[in-house]
Amino acid sequence: MSEEKTHGSGAVEPGDTSTRVGAEVIRERGVDPEELREKLIDAIGAEFTTYYYYTNLRMHLAGEEDYKEITEDARLEDRAHFELVVPRVYELEGSLPNDIRDFADRASCPDAEVPTPMDDTGGFDTSDLEVEDILEVLLEAERCAIRTWSEICDMTREADPRTYDMAQRILNEEMDHEAWFIELLSKERDGEINPAGHFARGEPGDAPYSTNNRFNDSA
Ligand SMILES: [Fe+2]
Ligand SMILES: [Fe+2]
Repeated sequence: MSEEKTHGSGAVEPGDTSTRVGAEVIRERGVDPEELREKLIDAIGAEFTTYYYYTNLRMHLAGEEDYKEITEDARLEDRAHFELVVPRVYELEGSLPNDIRDFADRASCPDAEVPTPMDDTGGFDTSDLEVEDILEVLLEAERCAIRTWSEICDMTREADPRTYDMAQRILNEEMDHEAWFIELLSKERDGEINPAGHFARGEPGDAPYSTNNRFNDSA
């Protein structure tokens, strides 16, 4: 005998593929899924551009192998953060901009550029480039990421457990990253011992929180 099941139907008509229950349940809980997904695109724009900029920053820590290693962990984990959240954008009926310039422009954090001008030959003028200046750029990029993912945690905590789970995983790693660069900058610039409390990842860019469930094997 057929009986009415509480969740057997809802606001979306059976067979309707133009509307997603996965988005409507978020709206019913008070968060606009369109606004959320646009914020996610901005946030992963910052992860993607940071991955690019950290490549340059890491290389210019020439001769500082320990600093390079830590920067590489942070760099690869930012790529993992981008990979983790991309499918969520599409689930919420968004898409990545077709033009990468648009994507970079809307990133929610400043460009983490090498803190020295380019010279006439197309390279960097490294004559006054100090390691501590690079470490400061890295630290401030991590702080922007912490603020960004904290905001997304706040937006989704009661309304969207799936996005919240992703954001809090990423936030865990961003807090690791801030602690790493506080330790390195304190020592390099101020001669202070300011431990992160961590050791290097087991493998470069291990991403222990954001990929520990392997949402996406390419991450
Ligand atoms: Fe990140
Ligand atoms: Fe980071």
